[in-house]
Amino acid sequence: MSSRHLATEQPDSFSFSKGGEKEAKFWIAKYPKGKERSAVIPLLWIAQKDNGGWLSEPAMRSVGDRLGMAHIRVLEVATFYTMFKLAPVGKHLIQVCGTTPCMLRGSGEIIKVCKNRIGEKNTISADGKFTWEEVECLGACVNAPMVQISNATGDAYYEDLDRASMEKLLDDLAADRAIKAGPQNGRHTSEPLGGAQTLTDKSLYNGSRAKKIKIPNAPKAAKKVSKKKEAK
Ligand code: FES
Repeated sequence: MSSRHLATEQPDSFSFSKGGEKEAKFWIAKYPKGKERSAVIPLLWIAQKDNGGWLSEPAMRSVGDRLGMAHIRVLEVATFYTMFKLAPVGKHLIQVCGTTPCMLRGSGEIIKVCKNRIGEKNTISADGKFTWEEVECLGACVNAPMVQISNATGDAYYEDLDRASMEKLLDDLAADRAIKAGPQNGRHTSEPLGGAQTLTDKSLYNGSRAKKIKIPNAPKAAKKVSKKKEAK
């Protein structure tokens, strides 16, 4: 888990980006008047994105002011949820799942790559590009081991990793090359490696499924009944 203390060095101010402002208004408008504070988590998330991936104290104060909340209440939320980073991170935040399925499938190797390439967890690499941390299950165990990578363009899962594919991801990110989310071993989503093993007869569903397999069709059935009734 990352440090839950505020960073010792803080910027003087924070302001939402144009896009962030728009998103903040969208979230606040979801709640009834007087209940705007319910939007605290999405607003903190937007502020974090607008602040280079971490929440500064001015950012948290700004969220509190926007929602009419005491600053301490915002701090309580931000320091509780580990998805909020309280200190600067690298351009790419790499969250390595270390829970049992990923551990059994080799997350230890992924962690070793991160340590070798980036340094200790929750530190920023020398080139400023990376921070890594170990997290609990990210819900993609079927594609273990996996990491989530967050940066200015979004948050995405990179799955079915091994030492070589993790090294390659870091090489590509370091060189500002685009990387493709999802399985990194050629697997399609969570299909068996090598392709689907069931329902492989394409003639059953390849555009002609409706002709080959009779699927009950409610509107037609209703029509038949009404025709019978008409005949009577
Ligand atoms: S254990 Fe890693 S995604 Fe679930």
